Amino acid sequence: MGGEQAGITDVKVSAFDIEAHRGGRALFPENTLASFANALSMGVTTLELDIGVTRDGAIVVSHERWLNPDLARGADGKYVAEPGTPLVKLSLDEVKQFDVGQIRPGSIYAAQFPDQHAVPGTKIPTLKELIDLVRRSGDSHVRLNIETKIDPNHPDESLPPERFVAVLLELLRAEKFENRVMVQSFDWRTLQLVQKLAPEIPTVYLTVQSGRDPTVFRDKASEWTAGFNPAEHERSTPRTIKAAGGAVWSPYLRDLTPELVSESHALGLKVVVWTVNQPADMARLIEMGVDGIISDRPDLLRQAAREKGIALPAGFPVTP
Ligand code: G3P
Ligand code: CA
Repeated sequence: MGGEQAGITDVKVSAFDIEAHRGGRALFPENTLASFANALSMGVTTLELDIGVTRDGAIVVSHERWLNPDLARGADGKYVAEPGTPLVKLSLDEVKQFDVGQIRPGSIYAAQFPDQHAVPGTKIPTLKELIDLVRRSGDSHVRLNIETKIDPNHPDESLPPERFVAVLLELLRAEKFENRVMVQSFDWRTLQLVQKLAPEIPTVYLTVQSGRDPTVFRDKASEWTAGFNPAEHERSTPRTIKAAGGAVWSPYLRDLTPELVSESHALGLKVVVWTVNQPADMARLIEMGVDGIISDRPDLLRQAAREKGIALPAGFPVTP
């Protein structure tokens, strides 16, 4: 461990990246201090999270760019009505009025995560509060994989990319936490800005290439790809990301093949796949040679990694 404090169980941290998606949302409410504390307590290498910025410039941890009607309850105990107000139109004080500790009972979303422990009274955390929690846990190795939630098709629902990245870098530098993070996004404009303004921070290029809403096509640029066009890079996603200056490719699990993993590694790109919740998929992808897995079930991911002989990160018990 390079002489550093390893924690309660002194296990060498594996190079394999065990990422708790939204803190491990199958277990505790997503993107909350409760879920992140649970992941830190069990031991992961990375906490995956999503961020937005409020009207008064606070960075808050939220997957949606708005208050999620399936998650956010007002002081009256009622879930917010559709469509939820964009966070960028609310002050931090206003955001803090809402309780996101229990998925709306009876919703399709609740049916997806029947085993999630409800933690009523839980507020949307700020990124600063999450950094404080990580420090309090004593885990000096765990990293944050911070996703900028910004959609080029809905510029009114977040800060513009330049301002978004500036606010994020300002906080990370004030907290001296730049060396503990990666920045990920489907919107590659924010990644280009991070590379220019903070080249020490690895960038993670998110893609989805199948299903109803692909962000990357093989034969053309899209609004998500910051002008990069796979047609100019042998129709190859890894080559396009390499040309864009990325450190990591983060594909949707159904888009990945063994050939693409090999191609990425030959280019010097790491491959960290999302979002993998079934043990059989975890085992298959580890065998395929991926460098990490993002999962809503970090407990099952630890087990799958252990079964493949991967050394596990130590747990750092902490309360939210
Ligand atoms: O880290 C990748 C993954 O989080 C992207 O999907 O929609 O859960 O943010 P999403
Ligand atoms: Ca995410």
